[in-house]
Amino acid sequence: MSPDRFTTLTVSLGARSYPILIGEQLLSRAGELLAPHLPLKRVFIITDEHVAKAHLPTLQAALSGTGIRYEAIILPPGEQTKSFAMFESVLTEILSHKPERKVTLIALGGGVIGDLTGFAASALLRGVGFIQIPTTLLSQVDSSVGGKTGINSKHGKNLIGSFYQPQLVLADMSLLDTLPKRELLAGYAEVVKYGLINQPEFFDWLVSQEAAFNRGDKAILSRMVETSCQAKAEIVAADEHEGGVRALLNLGHTFGHALEKVMGYDGRLLHGEAVAIGMMQAFRFSSRLGLCSESDVQRVEKHLKAVGLPTGLYDIHDRWNANDLLEAMYQDKKVSAGTLTFILAKGIGKAFIAKDVDPVSVRTMLEEEIG
Ligand SMILES: NC(=O)c1ccc[n+]([C@@H]2O[C@H](COP(=O)([O-])OP(=O)(O)OC[C@H]3O[C@@H](n4cnc5c(N)ncnc54)[C@H](O)[C@@H]3O)[C@@H](O)[C@H]2O)c1
Ligand SMILES: [Zn+2]
Repeated sequence: MSPDRFTTLTVSLGARSYPILIGEQLLSRAGELLAPHLPLKRVFIITDEHVAKAHLPTLQAALSGTGIRYEAIILPPGEQTKSFAMFESVLTEILSHKPERKVTLIALGGGVIGDLTGFAASALLRGVGFIQIPTTLLSQVDSSVGGKTGINSKHGKNLIGSFYQPQLVLADMSLLDTLPKRELLAGYAEVVKYGLINQPEFFDWLVSQEAAFNRGDKAILSRMVETSCQAKAEIVAADEHEGGVRALLNLGHTFGHALEKVMGYDGRLLHGEAVAIGMMQAFRFSSRLGLCSESDVQRVEKHLKAVGLPTGLYDIHDRWNANDLLEAMYQDKKVSAGTLTFILAKGIGKAFIAKDVDPVSVRTMLEEEIG
């Protein structure tokens, strides 16, 4: 793809449909690319310190001279920013500038900034437009698409939020140049997830591109983002509010969230790393239940290892307790009326929603994993 070209995908949600633009050097063209989606030439850019340092000047330069007036609000990086306190402070700061009803908020950052900004946009003046410019691989392939927004509370992650779709997602591959390798890998776990859910040929292709991914090939990365966004867009279009099929996107997440909760959100375990281990647990569990072949389990593990992702509990921590993990699973907001719902698999690309999973078998599985 030549540097000035980009791919456009659409999230089809009737009147709330929106495009995802995927390409290189898009941020420097933001003035031209954003303008058609702004009801008023007035925006607030929400970002974090790391991203501001690396990319805010490019966005500011792109907006200057276009007549688009902007203010930038720079927040501390990290999960702690998805808080009530930051939500209040962002809204108060924006309100101090007396925003018009038709302003647009721009989330320039990873999932933390995207989730907080989307939620702020849904509440500001009872709802203003917002645009996602995701800057991590995870946010490009997952959190910027689909309209889940929110913040954390002391009772758990993402417990306060709304479904609120953006006007536009601008996924600029060039922004990933400054992303730490570990963050890139964490996002890659969500890419693999789409293959494991229902696209076995995509998984095969990912395996065939291991070397290219490991050396940071941009064209390959771009195709990974396109296929992932397309996969997510289709699932979201079919089930926006997670009444059914959207739950498949939680493959690896019931286990993963429990790991994150037990480890605490202190940066020792990134979300995508937890998802990588969680997906392995889902596959190993499926195999133990006689649903999935052992050879598929091994193929998934081999691939995750080949790119450098963790696959087992002891890759990240050396002391585990089955009770803690089970308790964390029961606290997940995806648990309804005390029953555990898991996304299990009949093989690579054959994930399904398993309701009412027997807690005894989950405990046995965890105890075996802990050893
Ligand atoms: N809304 C959804 O559907 C959804 C889906 C998945 C995850 N999430 C949420 O996303 C969040 C995680 O998102 P994330 O993994 O993007 O984390 P993040 O936003 O915390 O970003 C990770 C780190 O990378 C830095 N960073 C971001 N872009 C950079 C760049 N281009 N160059 C250099 N540094 C950069 C950030 O400052 C931060 O330190 C979690 O809060 C999770 O709950 C939401
Ligand atoms: Zn995830």
